[in-house]
Amino acid sequence: MGKKYLYINTMGCQMNVYDSEQMANRLEDLGYILTPSAEKADLILVNTCSIREKAENKTYSFLGRLARLKEKKKNLIIGVGGCLAQQEGEKMIEKAPYLDLVFGTQRLSRLAEHVNRISKNRCKIVDVEMPNVIDETSEALKKSTSYEDGRVTSFVTIMQGCDNFCTYCVVPYVRGREVSRHPENIISEIEELVHNGVKEVTLLGQNVNSYGKKEGLCSYSDLLKKINDIKGLYRIRFTTSHPKDLSSDLINAFRYLPKLANHIHLPVQSGSNKILNLMNRKYTREEYFEKVDKLKSVCSDISFSSDIIVGFPGETISDFNDTIDLVKKVEFDSIFAFKYSDRPNALSVNLPDKIPDKEKGERLKILLDIQTDITTKRNEELIGKIVEVLVEGFSKRKSTNDSADNSIQWTGRTSTNKIVHFAVLDNNESFKGKLVKIIIDRAYTHSLFGKITG
Ligand code: 5AD
Ligand code: SF4
Repeated sequence: MGKKYLYINTMGCQMNVYDSEQMANRLEDLGYILTPSAEKADLILVNTCSIREKAENKTYSFLGRLARLKEKKKNLIIGVGGCLAQQEGEKMIEKAPYLDLVFGTQRLSRLAEHVNRISKNRCKIVDVEMPNVIDETSEALKKSTSYEDGRVTSFVTIMQGCDNFCTYCVVPYVRGREVSRHPENIISEIEELVHNGVKEVTLLGQNVNSYGKKEGLCSYSDLLKKINDIKGLYRIRFTTSHPKDLSSDLINAFRYLPKLANHIHLPVQSGSNKILNLMNRKYTREEYFEKVDKLKSVCSDISFSSDIIVGFPGETISDFNDTIDLVKKVEFDSIFAFKYSDRPNALSVNLPDKIPDKEKGERLKILLDIQTDITTKRNEELIGKIVEVLVEGFSKRKSTNDSADNSIQWTGRTSTNKIVHFAVLDNNESFKGKLVKIIIDRAYTHSLFGKITG
């Protein structure tokens, strides 16, 4: 079979990054190899996101660019997968008639078959069925050679879908019901990654805390224990945790599992009880504070990150101020903050008292400015301290005033998920994949700089 080129544009979250790898794996047997050039590709896949309106607009503008490529290259196959494809289905081909394939979030197992049919018959296929089962065939678990590129960290999906139906969120509709993977399959996938040089895994799920509950598999903290036992693995991260399901078992895991990184992404969404209730989040700000305090008591240097939505329908200035108050009290190390946007099927679409876009923008700016100060302060607290860094590779940025010209700058992350750059004069030694001790000498909002020590 002749070589053909595959270009994938991955939009959205880490779940899509993982799924894109699965797509590449599944197309390898048809002779497709990855290329970073859309112009060179015989098959272009766009793995889309629909979490906010902005993501949707971005996708359509990218698809517009592909239309021009298709005019030049008639045999080019263009497929769209991911959350927006799931949401739009047939409508996507109506809006972009040059598309050949629209496949849903649960149709990765049929991708190769569809691409094969299209290349033979030049037909159009829309497949957005949602069987709500996890595909754990050997094909799905096979690792692509294209991705064996010596990376240090990797994502591993442990569950798909979400059953929470937060009122603003499209995920339950585009990713389907919550389904967990079998622990044995997760473990063997991680073992294989470690065998190929991976030192850190980030476990992915919309709500990892409810892992295995529905299927009666092991608990999430038991899964973490099993992963902690994998030899050669240095660190375990996970995302996302829903505060309502954060069990004391999981909180305690931060005390007794040495490989569990000292960081938790715990989306709070709002600091106002009224808004949390309208969002159907099922916890109060007081309960959130309680969980944060418990985590701090078992792991004193744990770092926190969060997601926050501003301008949810009905959010008054007083509600917004509750969010600001919570952000100041928790002192998150970082946050992702978003302007609320209506999503198809989401119940919040029908709520009264929508906030004008300009007002949402102003609230977002206030929040982000406050958080920037907190993040910078939290980072500056590390100046003079020694941190352990897992080195991921060379730094893209060259240190400005530091070091001699022939020095090499490496980059990695602390257990608390902060990016650290350090320069070394000896460019014969590779630090990639190693844990090194760094003394921090400079701190900024998005990164830290230091020197190797000890
Ligand atoms: N509008 C704005 N932000 C949203 N998010 C999810 N849905 C919406 C929406 N309709 C944010 C939440 C979630 C993150 C992934 O995206 O904060 O945690
Ligand atoms: Fe969306 Fe809520 Fe599920 Fe997260 S927990 S994916 S915000 S419905």
